[in-house]
Amino acid sequence: MDNFAELHLHIEGTLEPEYLMELQARKNGTQLETIDELRKKYSFSDLQDFLNLYYESMQMLNASDDYSELADRYFQRVVGTGLTQVEAFFDPQTHGANGNSFETVFKALANSFQQANDKYGINARLIMCFERDRGPEAAKKTLDDVFAFFENKENDVFSNLLIGVGLDSAEAPFPPAPFAGVYERARNYGLHLVAHAGEEGSPENIWSALDDLGVERIDHGVRALEDEALLKRLEKDRVPLTVCPLSNYALKVVDSKKSAVRKVLDLLDKGIMVTVNSDDPAYFGGYIDDNYELLRSEGVGEDVIELLMQNSLKAAF
Ligand code: ADE
Ligand code: ZN
Repeated sequence: MDNFAELHLHIEGTLEPEYLMELQARKNGTQLETIDELRKKYSFSDLQDFLNLYYESMQMLNASDDYSELADRYFQRVVGTGLTQVEAFFDPQTHGANGNSFETVFKALANSFQQANDKYGINARLIMCFERDRGPEAAKKTLDDVFAFFENKENDVFSNLLIGVGLDSAEAPFPPAPFAGVYERARNYGLHLVAHAGEEGSPENIWSALDDLGVERIDHGVRALEDEALLKRLEKDRVPLTVCPLSNYALKVVDSKKSAVRKVLDLLDKGIMVTVNSDDPAYFGGYIDDNYELLRSEGVGEDVIELLMQNSLKAAF
């Protein structure tokens, strides 16, 4: 029986187009497009092209119940796949810009995550991401919101559900180094540190995430394959990479599904602690089990699948 952890999932990336249409109908009383018209938009030329649709769709999440429902639907989809642990990202800054406070969003998600623990036995926790294109000052304010939230002793019940901070959104134009200060504050507060790097950006971003931010895992990181010295460093320090094959294919980081799987195998060959994950399953054609199925359909053997699953459990916080 499969047993694995999902370490790279944006909960907003589980917003299925059918559910988006349901939200539109509920809130606006009309649907602006058919499901086929909407689905046509789910073909991306690159990361930014995807992010445009992703952030636009997030505008439909504007009540506490929306966040709980989104998370509940996600857990209903993945229960029974072999998933036993989830460390999921969320983007409080975009929700804040849409008028939803950190408190509203985090409490709603945290309640659903707690229920997943109680109801399904899935150990589910949250990592909040700073959006790199909003800059380090905005990130600092977001971290202040977290500190203020947990200063209220009534919120202690939620404290084990927020385990870390991450860095996401447009990578190539926004390197990690300016976020060093905010990462240091997060570390001192006891939060785990991760960052997206080496997805669309160069291996330099991976070096910087390690050396300037002090991250414990790299999200994506496939472009490490371009830098032998970096591969040695990742191997020596056993730094886990949370690789997302269907995402890499959908965002044209690679040009075929075969080559998305090849990246996983090449990184394993270099002795790297690779894990397989789904990123934004509603947008990229599959959940965590579908990513493992992709590997199997490309001829990856069960011994390697087992190793990847064990890596995911070891790399979990
Ligand atoms: N936000 C959601 N998915 C992302 C990805 N693949 N890269 C960067 N930011 C993201
Ligand atoms: Zn991601």
